Amino acid sequence: MVSQRPNLFFAIAAAMLLGVVSNVEAGVLFSSLNHTLLVTAQLADASNSTLKVARAGVDTILVKWSLNASAPPGIDDNYSKVNTKLCFAPVSQLTRKWRKNSNDLSIDKTCSFDIATQNFSTAGNSVQYLVSKTVPYAEYFVRAYVLNVEGNQVAYGQSTNANKTTNIFTVDPITGRHATIDIAVAVMSVFSVASLFTYYVAEQIYLKRKKSV
Ligand SMILES: *[C@@H]1O[C@H](CO)[C@@H](O)[C@H](O)[C@H]1NC(C)=O
Ligand SMILES: *[C@@H]1O[C@H](CO)[C@@H](O)[C@H](O)[C@H]1NC(C)=O
Ligand SMILES: *[C@@H]1O[C@H](CO)[C@@H](O)[C@H](O)[C@H]1NC(C)=O
Ligand SMILES: *[C@@H]1O[C@H](CO)[C@@H](O)[C@H](O)[C@H]1NC(C)=O
Ligand SMILES: *[C@@H]1O[C@H](CO)[C@@H](O)[C@H](O)[C@H]1NC(C)=O
Ligand SMILES: *[C@@H]1O[C@H](CO)[C@@H](O)[C@H](O)[C@H]1NC(C)=O
Repeated sequence: MVSQRPNLFFAIAAAMLLGVVSNVEAGVLFSSLNHTLLVTAQLADASNSTLKVARAGVDTILVKWSLNASAPPGIDDNYSKVNTKLCFAPVSQLTRKWRKNSNDLSIDKTCSFDIATQNFSTAGNSVQYLVSKTVPYAEYFVRAYVLNVEGNQVAYGQSTNANKTTNIFTVDPITGRHATIDIAVAVMSVFSVASLFTYYVAEQIYLKRKKSV
């Protein structure tokens, strides 16, 4: 009897572990979502000129979403919120495991940047997103997830085709910083030359004084 206890212990521990693991893995599958939203993404600068490359921290993305008018009536009965996200295009995921695409949305890293969460409405809505400075240089598209009242994804739409090859755009964090970095480098160079010169002159004066003493 005593020798059976460890077995029982291990059986319970294993069952608990399995339970934990399967709970963690219980994410919604992307392939189970209905494709019912229409989504567009338009890049613009401060004067609202259309762009191909958005400078992080400077330019905006105007995201518009609405229910596809051809979707079956009543399909949006349980639609509660719409969560729009900035997502890596496949070309920017190829050699980067940490941006990995997964059908399991709880581990998918495709859509790593939140844009907004808005109430669902059949007519749709829009959001103007100032590209965050934390967004790295890469190719992107925008996806909108429809959430039910429990907060689970039930449907989606995206600003690109199913293969994520059309309407892909670039975010470039460097462009917006160029001028500042150049100025900083110039100032530091001048400062370093000037300080070198100052030390040289100071040393000469010190040496001369030493000699004259
Ligand atoms: C910017 O231009 C787009 C069309 O190109 C328009 O839909 C949008 O309302 C404009 N936004 C502002 C803030 O003027
Ligand atoms: C809208 O829905 C219809 C019917 O499901 C579909 O054929 C069409 O491709 C959808 N339109 C877009 C732009 O996704
Ligand atoms: C909405 O949710 C209810 C309860 O969970 C379910 O019975 C119904 O089928 C859902 N409707 C749609 C269109 O998914
Ligand atoms: C979103 O919906 C909730 C619940 O229906 C409501 O209380 C809230 O005012 C809505 N927010 C906006 C911005 O419409
Ligand atoms: C997708 O739509 C169908 C009705 O066309 C519905 O029965 C099903 O529950 C929906 N799927 C999800 C994940 O809401
Ligand atoms: C998407 O990719 C698959 C496999 O790579 C290909 O067979 C299909 O034609 C592509 N579809 C589009 C719309 O490009």
